[in-house]
Amino acid sequence: MSDLKKSVWITGASSGIGKQLTIEFAKNGETVLATARRTSLIENYSKELGEFSKNIIPFEVNVSDVPSIQNFFNSLSEKFFVSALINNAGITSFKPAEKDSLQEIKEIVDTNLLGSIYAIKTVLPAMIENNSGTIINILSVVTQKVFTGSSAYSASKAGLKAYADSLREEIRKNNIRVINILPGAAKTAIWHTSVLEKHSHRMMSPEDIAKFVYQVYSQKNNLVAEEIVMRPLQGDI
Ligand SMILES: NC(=O)c1ccc[n+]([C@@H]2O[C@H](COP(=O)([O-])OP(=O)(O)OC[C@H]3O[C@@H](n4cnc5c(N)ncnc54)[C@H](OP(=O)(O)O)[C@@H]3O)[C@@H](O)[C@H]2O)c1
Repeated sequence: MSDLKKSVWITGASSGIGKQLTIEFAKNGETVLATARRTSLIENYSKELGEFSKNIIPFEVNVSDVPSIQNFFNSLSEKFFVSALINNAGITSFKPAEKDSLQEIKEIVDTNLLGSIYAIKTVLPAMIENNSGTIINILSVVTQKVFTGSSAYSASKAGLKAYADSLREEIRKNNIRVINILPGAAKTAIWHTSVLEKHSHRMMSPEDIAKFVYQVYSQKNNLVAEEIVMRPLQGDI
């Protein structure tokens, strides 16, 4: 693996928390494989980063689609080695369970839960072979506290938390860190405009979350921050 370039794969890099994670990691000298469906958004903000833009490699990936992930990995695996994966891509519906269509529920679970598992499965063999790696999952406070209008979303995030917690125990011996981040409300496009108009003044900023996640990631000593809960100072909205 020595001739491959070490990189951090961030999913859902086109907006919100994933965009700020990509910028923060790139500014700190990491090579970021920045994936999403809307790669033009990644290309646009990357251009504004001057010398750091060279650290961002945009690639179109739909995480809910296994062939899309495989195509990404096959295209880049001769040049890059993924030493860290940040599972950030995510969607929700904010509807009561009875109003969610089966298709909406499937898309939420396919993206948030299965998409993250597909990404982990893609990078895990090389991490195990290399005896190092970091997997960061952007979960949510819904894994800790009950929110209405979030049934499929809560199921998907709780599912990924359970998967990650079990995986962590299996791969400690391989020096692979599994870190779950549980954010409360952050000011991003995942929220309806009406909610942002009312509450954005007290939501966390995606920039602050990204800086904090980078700090956690950059702890390269013999510890792992396994689970981090972060909320707006004024509490949940
Ligand atoms: N904002 C909050 O209050 C909050 C709180 C807790 C947790 N989170 C979590 O934070 C993560 C990021 O959300 P955000 O708030 O930053 O929302 P956002 O601005 O809507 O960003 C969501 C990102 O996910 C990507 N995405 C969605 N479906 C995808 C798919 N099938 N394949 C690939 N990428 C996909 C989107 O990219 P494309 O559409 O270009 O593909 C976009 O980059 C999510 O996992 C969310 O659950 C957010």
